[in-house]
Amino acid sequence: MKVLVVGGGGREHAIIKSIKKNPDVEVIYALPGNGGIAEDAVCVDVGAKDIDEIVDFAKRNRIDYAVVAPDDPLVLGAVDALEKVGIPSFGPSKAAAIIEGSKAFSKELMKKYGIPTAAYETFSDEEAAVSYLDTVGYPTVIKADGLALGKGVIIAKDKTEAENAIRSMMSGAMFGESGKRVIIEEFLEGPEVSVLAFTDGKCVVPMISSMDHKRAHDGDEGLNTGGMGTIAPNPYYTEKIKERCMKEIFIPTVNAMRSEGRTFKGCLYFGLMVTKDGPKVIEYNCRFGDPETQVVLPLLKTDLLTVMMAVTEERLSETEVDFSDESACCVIMASDGYPEKYDKGFKITIPEDVIDSVFIAGAKEKDGELFTSGGRVLGVTATADTLNEAIDRSYSLVKRIHFDNAYYRRDIGARALEAIK
Ligand code: AMP
Ligand code: GLY
Repeated sequence: MKVLVVGGGGREHAIIKSIKKNPDVEVIYALPGNGGIAEDAVCVDVGAKDIDEIVDFAKRNRIDYAVVAPDDPLVLGAVDALEKVGIPSFGPSKAAAIIEGSKAFSKELMKKYGIPTAAYETFSDEEAAVSYLDTVGYPTVIKADGLALGKGVIIAKDKTEAENAIRSMMSGAMFGESGKRVIIEEFLEGPEVSVLAFTDGKCVVPMISSMDHKRAHDGDEGLNTGGMGTIAPNPYYTEKIKERCMKEIFIPTVNAMRSEGRTFKGCLYFGLMVTKDGPKVIEYNCRFGDPETQVVLPLLKTDLLTVMMAVTEERLSETEVDFSDESACCVIMASDGYPEKYDKGFKITIPEDVIDSVFIAGAKEKDGELFTSGGRVLGVTATADTLNEAIDRSYSLVKRIHFDNAYYRRDIGARALEAIK
C-alpha cells in the first residue's frame, strides 16, 4: 500500500512511525514532513494547506490511503477533496471539522444536546461583549471563535484584562478573522485530561487518557505553548470519571454530530476538565493532539493503520483496539525562547540507539545532518511499567540528545506523580 500523511510535526512523525509497522505498507509520503520525518517517509514539498496540490499528488502517485493530521487542512475540506477523487482518507469531513473550526458551533452543540461544558455567551459585536463583562465573575475566559494555533484563549483576571483581550481579538489585530467573533465563558477549575477517541460516526473508542503540559516553564508558569510534554495514562481519569465521560460526553457528542448531519469520522479529541461537578468539555479538536499523540500511540498495541481503515470503512464496532498497561512520558525539547523569539539552525545530535524514541517536530536536513528549524524541535518518549520509570527513562534519553539553545521542562509528569501518591 501507498500511504500519504498530510502534516509535518511531531504528531505526524508519531503517526508515520506507527503506520510503518504495518507489513502491507510499501511507502509513506509526508506532505510536507520535515528533516527528521525523512528518515521514515518520503517528504514532498507540498504545504499541508495546499488542498489542490495534495489531491493532485495523491492522484498522480496512486495513493491507496491518506491520513490528514492537522486542523487547518481538515477545516478546509482536505478529506472531502481526497474522497471525491476516490482516495479513502482518515479524518473528518469539512462539515464535521467545524467542531474544532468554530468554538461558537461547538458551544452551541453542547448546549443543544446537554453535554457538560462551561456556561458562555457568544458575541459578534465588540460593544455588546464589553458591556457583558459587567455581569460576569472573575477570572473569566475569553476565546476567539476560529483557529488560532492553540493560542486563542485568554484567562482574564479582571475586567480591564478582559476588555483588552476582547478589543484586540475583535479588531482582528490578534487572530485576524478567527477573533472577529468571541466567546466569553465561565472559568472552570480542576485537573485537565485529554482523551483522543477513534470514531466512525456511530461507534466511539476512547484511547488511553493523557495529560498535556501547556505552559512554557516548570510549575506551569510562563506562556501557553503548543505543549511541552505529555504523560499517559492520566491519573485523574479514574474508572468512575471514564464511565461518566463515555455516557455524558463521548457518546452524546458523536450522536449529536450525526443528528446535525455532520457525522464525525476520524480522531475526535476531548479536552476535559474534571470539576467538582464532574467532567466538562473545555474544547474539542477534530484530530490527534500534539504532543498527546506522542504518548498515546506508543501505547497502542493494535496496528494503527488497521484501526484507521476500520474508521473510514465504518466497521469500528467489529475492530479490536488494545492498549498496553504501561505508562508513557514525552518530553519536548524546544528552542530556548519559544513560544516567543528563538534562534534556530543548530546542529542536532541523536545517538543511534535513541532514534526510535524520538519524534521530530522542527528540524531541517542538510548533507545528512539535522538542524533545528522550529520552536518545538523534538519529543522524546519512553514507556515503562510505571509512570515514575517512564519519566526517568525519557529524561535520561533527553540528556543524550544535543543541540545549542535547547530548552525543556524538568517537571513533566511531576503533577501526575503527586496525584498517584
Ligand atoms: P483551549 O485552547 O480551549 O484548549 O484552551 C487552552 C487552555 O485554556 C485550556 O487547556 C485550559 O487550561 C484553559 N481554559 C480554557 N477554557 C477554560 C475555562 N472555561 N476555564 C478554565 N480554564 C480554561
Ligand atoms: N495538545 C493540544 C492540542 O493538540 O491542541
